[in-house]
Amino acid sequence: MKSWLIAAMMAAAAFLPPQARAQETASPALVAADLRPGLSLSGLWRYSIDPYRSGVTGFHGEPANASERRYAETDVEAAMRAGGGPFEYDMQAAPLTTLPGAWLTHSAEMRHYQGLVWYQRRFVAAVEPGKRQFLRIGAANYKARVYLNGKFIGEHEGGFTPFAFDVTQQLRAGENQVTVAVDSAASPSSVPPPVTDWENYGGITRDIRLIATPETFVDDAWVRLTRDNKIAVDVRLGGPQAAGRALKLQVPALGVVLSGTADASGRWRASVAAPRTLLRWSPDRPQLYDVTIDAGEDHWRDRIGFRTITTRGSEILLNGKPLFLRGISLHEEEFGVAPSRAITPAAARALLMEAKSGLHANFVRLAHYPHSEVTTRAADELGLLVWSEIPVYWLIDWSNPATLAAARKMLAENIVRDRNRASIAIWSIANETPNSPARNAFLQTLAGDVRSLDDSRLVGAALLTERSEENGTPVMTMNDPLAASLDVMGINTYNGWYTADRLDLVPSIAWRVPADKPLLFSEFGADAKAGFHDPRPAPQKFSEEFQRDYYRATLAMAAKIPTLRGVSPWILKDFRSPRRQNPYQQGWNRKGLVSETGQRKLAYDVLADFYADKAGKDAK
Ligand code: GCU
Repeated sequence: MKSWLIAAMMAAAAFLPPQARAQETASPALVAADLRPGLSLSGLWRYSIDPYRSGVTGFHGEPANASERRYAETDVEAAMRAGGGPFEYDMQAAPLTTLPGAWLTHSAEMRHYQGLVWYQRRFVAAVEPGKRQFLRIGAANYKARVYLNGKFIGEHEGGFTPFAFDVTQQLRAGENQVTVAVDSAASPSSVPPPVTDWENYGGITRDIRLIATPETFVDDAWVRLTRDNKIAVDVRLGGPQAAGRALKLQVPALGVVLSGTADASGRWRASVAAPRTLLRWSPDRPQLYDVTIDAGEDHWRDRIGFRTITTRGSEILLNGKPLFLRGISLHEEEFGVAPSRAITPAAARALLMEAKSGLHANFVRLAHYPHSEVTTRAADELGLLVWSEIPVYWLIDWSNPATLAAARKMLAENIVRDRNRASIAIWSIANETPNSPARNAFLQTLAGDVRSLDDSRLVGAALLTERSEENGTPVMTMNDPLAASLDVMGINTYNGWYTADRLDLVPSIAWRVPADKPLLFSEFGADAKAGFHDPRPAPQKFSEEFQRDYYRATLAMAAKIPTLRGVSPWILKDFRSPRRQNPYQQGWNRKGLVSETGQRKLAYDVLADFYADKAGKDAK
């Protein structure tokens, strides 16, 4: 099934000049753009639903006509009064809402809407001569088309990574009208597929900003500590004077100054031995340094921690020392009874501090898609290692080249956006995907992409296992061929929740896993409705007591696996999931250790005590 965007892209492409078509997929990286000065366009927007996508394609498949073009600069009311029309929309009379935030909380009617929504606002811009202007959106789920002053600018697929379009030519000094069409519809070929276990959160879920840069600017910069103890930098400049441009990187607190010249393609690579005064980043001491790069008139900056993450046999080493990842999984969803995936710095800190100080965690699995840069920056600042992943989840269309292209682009956008984040230790390429030749080829391609984009971190995935019995004892075997392409093997295990295993027998379950690679339990968990108690010796499922006993049993089982180097139980907080509709769930997956409002359940202390003990031992 082709979505409206592809149909519209083909239809519209016939009407767009070649350079505009090139714009449709080209999006500068603008790394650390969130730190660049700019004009925030977050705030009040008008919105209008368009379930039949008539604002893009007419009912015979032709491009939308004037009566439907929501992005046009038409004063519909005035045109109608003057005898024009009819128009099937009027964006200036459409309801108002505040962005960013998914549309499910715009109004009661929008709670379960999936499809196309048009957003529009006006703003006044100052146009500085010699500057480039970029319109950047932190994330729009799932596909977005951007128009400025009635002209198509570009489109992006993927609900969880930023994109920016050059609007220098279309931006006016004075008043402008920006329109963004967002389509939340997933398809069998999208990433993720239509069936997941989380709320789809359609809409613009992260900041919208207008960013001005010099004509020639730092588009991508990756600054890190290498495994042979050097500070290395890779820069790619954008703009007409990139080739031969003089560059200077500085880390003032370390007295590091690196100068050089961009090559013919606008790229520069350099490195210098790390000063002895460098304090390496770690969860216990999340030391960040201000880093600047000057390239002509452009002054780029970021805040970067320097550390190494490697493996040695089955161990994970942070700065050369083995560590155990005391983790917890999170979806991108703020505390509260009606979250809209609007992750402010305060919302991110509330979630991460529950992990860091409440659970004594040093690790978070940001499932199942790239989370906001607000969250990964907070992990840098607070000191939490991160498993970052793309939503190659369950039933992916492994043989579809468009699906592979979408996954590769999403992976590259995620890595390029965040590879200056010291907190990120693992790039994960898949979750619970069934073993097949097409799936293995698809994922081996992604694993290769990770290694070519970032040789300083680990490649992981959450894998499936097979169950058998030996002498009446359950045996879990992981022999997924994908493991050979990974640095870290994640396993999701739910024995005792999704199986009939008695909890008192769970600790005796045996595990057969490769011995030469670190193993993480990337998920285990049980639902519990906060406040529902069953004091009986064998409490029922969905009670807090059952979840508590499940954690005790599963941690006892985990303790027996010699190559287990970490766990990230499923999950910190109850989260919205349309698949979960029994009375204890009411549309929420309740495997959280805390409820959606932050109410801690009995199992919370089981994990917190386990981690406090682990942390105490690690410190010795
Ligand atoms: C799976 C899956 C999660 C899901 C969880 C559950 O392992 O990875 O996305 O929410 O199990 O069933 O709760």
